Amino acid sequence: MVACRVCSGSVDEFLDFGRQPLSDAFLDPGEVEKEFFFRLAVGMCGNCTMVQLMEEVPRERMFHDSYPYFSSGSSVMRQHFESTAEEFLRTELAGPDPFIVEIGSNDGVMLRAIDRAGVRHLGVEPSGSVAERARAQGIAVCTEFFEADTAAAIRAEHGPADVVYAANTFCHIPYVESIFRGVDALLKPDGVFVFEDPYLGEIVERTSFDQIYDEHFYFFTARSVRAMARRFGFDLVDVRRLPVHGGEVRYTLARTGARRESPAVAELLAEEERKGLATRATVTGFATSVERTRDELMTLLRGLVSDGRRIVGYGATAKSATVTNYCGISADLVSGVFDTTPAKQGRLTPGAHLPVRPAEEFTAPYPDYVLLFAWNHAEEIMAKERAFREAGGRWILYTPKVQVV
Ligand code: SAM
Ligand code: TMP
Ligand code: ZN
Repeated sequence: MVACRVCSGSVDEFLDFGRQPLSDAFLDPGEVEKEFFFRLAVGMCGNCTMVQLMEEVPRERMFHDSYPYFSSGSSVMRQHFESTAEEFLRTELAGPDPFIVEIGSNDGVMLRAIDRAGVRHLGVEPSGSVAERARAQGIAVCTEFFEADTAAAIRAEHGPADVVYAANTFCHIPYVESIFRGVDALLKPDGVFVFEDPYLGEIVERTSFDQIYDEHFYFFTARSVRAMARRFGFDLVDVRRLPVHGGEVRYTLARTGARRESPAVAELLAEEERKGLATRATVTGFATSVERTRDELMTLLRGLVSDGRRIVGYGATAKSATVTNYCGISADLVSGVFDTTPAKQGRLTPGAHLPVRPAEEFTAPYPDYVLLFAWNHAEEIMAKERAFREAGGRWILYTPKVQVV
């Protein structure tokens, strides 16, 4: 039996992707021999309903000095975090001498605007590669994993925080008890813990199974987050749906009884109940849709290639590791992947070993089709690469369904 990392209940597996590589472990050709694999499978806790991975990858294998994901690579995300910072500055950080701590601050994409406003802040970011990028802009960052001890040390040095914020990071951290103890040590009595992560409701609705990979340990719902919060002395006081990264929810937690609950919480809980989101039937139905998507995508790709068409990929995302390795997409179907990240270029994608090429080299003569792995950035990328479509090229999408556009 696998025990739930939140409540120790029994986790029932519903989907097994088999042997998978680490989603951000891009390789040099000489490193292929010693590539690391683990079993990627997901289950739901029979007690608290938290959906989670069945197997955990040691954090140091994923987050280190060569971590290649730089948040500022998307203009839409830069804008998203700029407005998030502005909202904090107008609300939670509007009092005297405010202080905000961000868990997983990456290259400073959010804290940049906080720093510009002259507000006290600290990023906690274990990956040296991205932490250094933030520090070079004058942002305060400590290169550590956030946990209870880190939080106590921050509290001792800087005093209590008005806000602890985490974007696309809390769902990466299996050891939630230590996180809550840390947040509790750090927050002012009426401070808030705000985090945003991919929403299970969207993943099920869009069959976006590629959100499942080593780094994404939890798949939250309002129901599972509320149960988790209560366990550790917090209330879920607000939720807001966000359009970024294929559909997320921003959760606001406060200490039990410290804040009034917004009506949005009851609304989202009711919607989840109505849709039966956290039920065995829903998650096994999702698993069936995932298999169907894989089969449809592979039939399409194989058909095009046997008709002599040339296909490349766009966006060497962490998500694409699950798609390529689960579906079995090799370089004879998709000859390479274009991406703007220098740390990924010239290397091979994990497991499938598709060569990553600089996005600037995506020029005429164009391939016939592009499989868009970075579908969450579709608008931004399709606008940028308008010439491809004008030249007769077509995009292949696999979420919410397999289609050519
Ligand atoms: N917040 C950024 C965003 O939304 O684009 C970065 C998200 S990135 C997918 C996740 C980040 O969390 C990485 O930079 C990683 O190094 C960091 N991280 C992972 N585990 C962490 C932990 N225990 N404490 C603090 N940061 C962590
Ligand atoms: P993400 O989906 O995890 O944010 O990763 C997006 C990947 O796609 C990342 O490696 C950067 C790349 N990318 C491009 O190559 N061009 C673009 O215009 C954007 C927005 C992202
Ligand atoms: Zn549980």
